[in-house]
Amino acid sequence: MNAVFPGSFDPITSGHMDVLTRASRIFDHVTVTVMHNARKQGKHLFTLDERLAILHEATAHLPNVGVDTFGGLLVDYMAQQQQGLILRGLRAVSDYEYELQIAHLNRQIGEVETVFIMAATRWSFVSSTMVREIASYGGDISEMVPRASAAALRRKFADVYAARDAGRAAGTE
Ligand code: PNS
Repeated sequence: MNAVFPGSFDPITSGHMDVLTRASRIFDHVTVTVMHNARKQGKHLFTLDERLAILHEATAHLPNVGVDTFGGLLVDYMAQQQQGLILRGLRAVSDYEYELQIAHLNRQIGEVETVFIMAATRWSFVSSTMVREIASYGGDISEMVPRASAAALRRKFADVYAARDAGRAAGTE
């Protein structure tokens, strides 16, 4: 059985990696698909190409995991690819209501089933949004994201990290 792990992945976090790694042991093949929306263009920190590059690097060690992208309805992608199930991660109860809604809608409009893997509690408070926020102030996100995401965030906020590193070296932080 194959699964599709859809999301924005802006960028992929350790929580996503936990769900993906565990799913790769359950499914024959898992495709991580960056869903992109032309109207949301510019609302992401990373461009689509950057997110795909990060994903390729972060998943290179998982032989049955592929990376793809699609702009449109997830159910149309699922129909096109004949990929099997939708895989989503759940961190906390707060995720449940949103996930319940999209899982039901995807089944209603596309007859596609969704399966959930609970992210390890260690990652329950990690989200791409929070990671972007911490990185934008030069905070330490190295535990919260895979190395490829951490390097990309450091590049994106190079000035902030350089100023912080300089402050530390001068003993002002
Ligand atoms: O990482 P995210 O932002 O939580 O992922 C949400 C995502 C991309 C899976 C969801 O917004 C989605 O499936 N978008 C594609 C458009 C679509 O099918 N929308 C209807 C869902 S009912």
